[in-house]
Amino acid sequence: MPPLPEAAAARLSALGNQMRTLSDTFVGYPCSQDFSYPEIIPLLGYAINNVGDPFGESIYRENTFALEREVVAFFQQHLRAPAEQTWGYMTSGGTEGNLYGLYLAREIHPDGIIYYSEHTHYSAAKLVRVLGARSIMIRGQDNGEIDYEDLRETIRIHRDAPPIILANIGTTMHGAVDNLTTIRAMLKDMAISRSYIHADAALSGMLLPWVDDPQPFGFDAGVDSIAVSGHKFIGSPMPCGVVLAGRRHVDRVARSVEYVGCMDTTIAGSRNAVTPVILWSAIQRWGADGFRERMGRCLEMADYAIAAFARHGIKAWRHPNSITVVFPRPRDSVIRNWQIAPSGDIAHIITMPHVTRTMIDRVVAETAGLTQQQP
Ligand SMILES: Cc1ncc(COP(=O)(O)O)c(C=O)c1O
Repeated sequence: MPPLPEAAAARLSALGNQMRTLSDTFVGYPCSQDFSYPEIIPLLGYAINNVGDPFGESIYRENTFALEREVVAFFQQHLRAPAEQTWGYMTSGGTEGNLYGLYLAREIHPDGIIYYSEHTHYSAAKLVRVLGARSIMIRGQDNGEIDYEDLRETIRIHRDAPPIILANIGTTMHGAVDNLTTIRAMLKDMAISRSYIHADAALSGMLLPWVDDPQPFGFDAGVDSIAVSGHKFIGSPMPCGVVLAGRRHVDRVARSVEYVGCMDTTIAGSRNAVTPVILWSAIQRWGADGFRERMGRCLEMADYAIAAFARHGIKAWRHPNSITVVFPRPRDSVIRNWQIAPSGDIAHIITMPHVTRTMIDRVVAETAGLTQQQP
């Protein structure tokens, strides 16, 4: 390949410096930044591609299926998904995983209605449009959970259509977990025989396995499919995720494709073959015990942040087992300086593993108006 022109190299070097500076103020989004994966570099010289079903054989053998299968197995184990009854693959992120779960649900129940709360990630409305599915948005409670009464009443009015519930296992803004036990009891109580529950566990799907007393969140809580992001708690320089679903559901959509010699069970055709190496490597490095210890530190940091806000008379709070610290929306300069995502009159910081006490002290001081960081 021709060498990179000097001017282009200089631009990339400036971009690197910009990232380094920005990383010091990265407290508003749920993406870990405490990683380093030099082991992927030798693989970047090949046209690796995980096209097709990672559990099949493909004619395209420059793939990382073997590692992808181990990543899926790790998620199956910790999302309490029986390996013989479930299947999964690595997605481009939580959004693709949610699309996959809703796609399966719509294939199984073409006459179904998708219910999701107003606190659901903004991409849900787009996904139901992509699928051309009927959907109804349900009121949310102030704490971020779905309003169970509104859900019950709405399902009752539409009893002829199978409910497809998009449950939040950790909402974007509040880190709230919709109660799967309550939702399942509601469906049982109404004698609804055809239904589907997809769990959007983008962040909390890799937090709840590491706490002592998690809210119900996995297949043992009755979900039909679950989507988790890989670049959030585990951390990755490239967005990625894992989706798991009941095998019997996936069998409904699987088609054999001669061109690549394997089953077409995934949404994307060509798929990232580097991200399986990244998650596999993280799993090898941390293991379940390492993730548990890391989550413990994140929870401690979340409590540190709440106490720091309280010292300045600012009320901040979090849900149990959540590292999303909610506080009143600060002024725009704080939002800009600290890359904080606002929503109406609230905002949050998320104490991902790279967030330090110093960062929290500075963000709290600035929110309280004691200091002004130079942008
Ligand atoms: C609850 C929830 N669902 C879905 C998503 C989308 O995930 P991704 O950005 O991995 O596509 C997010 C992202 O923050 C989220 O918080």
